[in-house]
Amino acid sequence: MMEKIKLVQGDITSLKVDAIVNAANTSLLGGGGVDGAIHRAAGPELLEECRKIGGCPVGQARITSGYKLPARYIIHTVGPFWRGGNGGEPEKLAACYRNSFALAHEYGLKSIAFPAISTGAYRFPADQAAHIAVKETCAALKLYPEIDMVYFVCFNTPCLESYEQTLKNGC
Ligand code: AR6
Repeated sequence: MMEKIKLVQGDITSLKVDAIVNAANTSLLGGGGVDGAIHRAAGPELLEECRKIGGCPVGQARITSGYKLPARYIIHTVGPFWRGGNGGEPEKLAACYRNSFALAHEYGLKSIAFPAISTGAYRFPADQAAHIAVKETCAALKLYPEIDMVYFVCFNTPCLESYEQTLKNGC
């Protein structure tokens, strides 16, 4: 399984994969952070398609075209806002990964790149988020053998260190 997981540092919008995942909000109408970067890079047609979808609840995922991105598709998922951890935040974050992988499978996608969902504006602790991301990815790789590469894309060093630590334990 570990040979199908790659940790990279940089801007997720530059990746040429079947799908990049967006850490969106429930409106799906754009925002700051990785969401803003994806909308800027994909172009205004993305917003048009998102408007038609009409929003997405926390923990769920929706798919759109990638438009001007090198990626073919964008999977938009809405992570939980961290309120101390007793409001089901870990389970909601796990659902983001599970539902994103389910859509990837439904569309026959083979490569997918994730940002560290919820760890920016939504303040989910980086270590715990990395643990959930890796656990759900390992489960999905077993469930969907056609997926041959999963990228974890970190924008900053604390994110990278959290994933490095978690990935040491393998799948
Ligand atoms: N490529 C990869 N990772 C990035 C990029 C990028 N271009 N830009 C930021 N990150 P955040 P959230 C990292 O805040 O916490 C938005 O306004 C960032 O360093 O983008 O889920 C939405 O509209 C962090 O590690 O998403 C929502 O309202 C990670 O991506 C809200 O923020 C996630 O940070 C969602 O908050």
